[in-house]
Amino acid sequence: MRLIVGNWKMNGMRADGIALARAIARSALRHPPASTEVLICPPATLIGEIGAVLAGTSLVLGAQDCAVEPKGAFTGDVSAPMLADLGCRYVILGHSERRQHHGETNATIARKVVVAQAHGLAAIVCIGESALERERGEALAVVTQQLAESTPSIVDPPQLVVAYEPVWAIGSGRTPNGMEIAEVHDTLRRHLRGCFGDAGRQVRLLYGGSVTSKNAAEILNLSDVDGALVGGASLKADDFWAIVQVAN
Ligand code: PGA
Repeated sequence: MRLIVGNWKMNGMRADGIALARAIARSALRHPPASTEVLICPPATLIGEIGAVLAGTSLVLGAQDCAVEPKGAFTGDVSAPMLADLGCRYVILGHSERRQHHGETNATIARKVVVAQAHGLAAIVCIGESALERERGEALAVVTQQLAESTPSIVDPPQLVVAYEPVWAIGSGRTPNGMEIAEVHDTLRRHLRGCFGDAGRQVRLLYGGSVTSKNAAEILNLSDVDGALVGGASLKADDFWAIVQVAN
């Protein structure tokens, strides 16, 4: 099953988020995606209400981050069991914006994967090289190391998703070319098979970074691209649904 993820980031008041979710839900009811799972990750403030809008559709609810600990004295944090309690099935972990602005390390992210999976959430682990690392020819080494260090040794492969998101492609309108994406995904797949054997094939590999309805077909047709993580284009119901239909 392919997976298309809408990452709303820190966007939307209640009215905007509900209107967007309703528009996406209408598309899902009109054209149910047979072979594609569609996941919506609103900001934490909206998860409960968006969950109510998505109820009764095939759309799935997720979150953009979770705490390392399941509960306790961690002011401002939201835990994996709290997200599961709201109906989330997935959580995005280690997005480059969290690595950059919140100092999240691979080790922190690996701990979050453990807590997420322990509470029934599939983990979407984000990795990706910077522009300088790509220029220097280090992209494959960087993403392999990030993947190795951001995933715990004990992990449930079907409950793990890896999103390759080059930092320089996020929100920039620039993407790697098809060969570059395919090369990274092939490298990641080989690493996953090295770790998990045949079960490594069950880990879904997404591409993210400036995915639009215009470039979705080219990207989603590449071998070993099992879906996309969509930021900006997920904030417009029509654009987002056009990407879902390409995947489907
Ligand atoms: P973008 O964001 O689609 O706006 O580039 C993708 C992401 O950060 O997940």
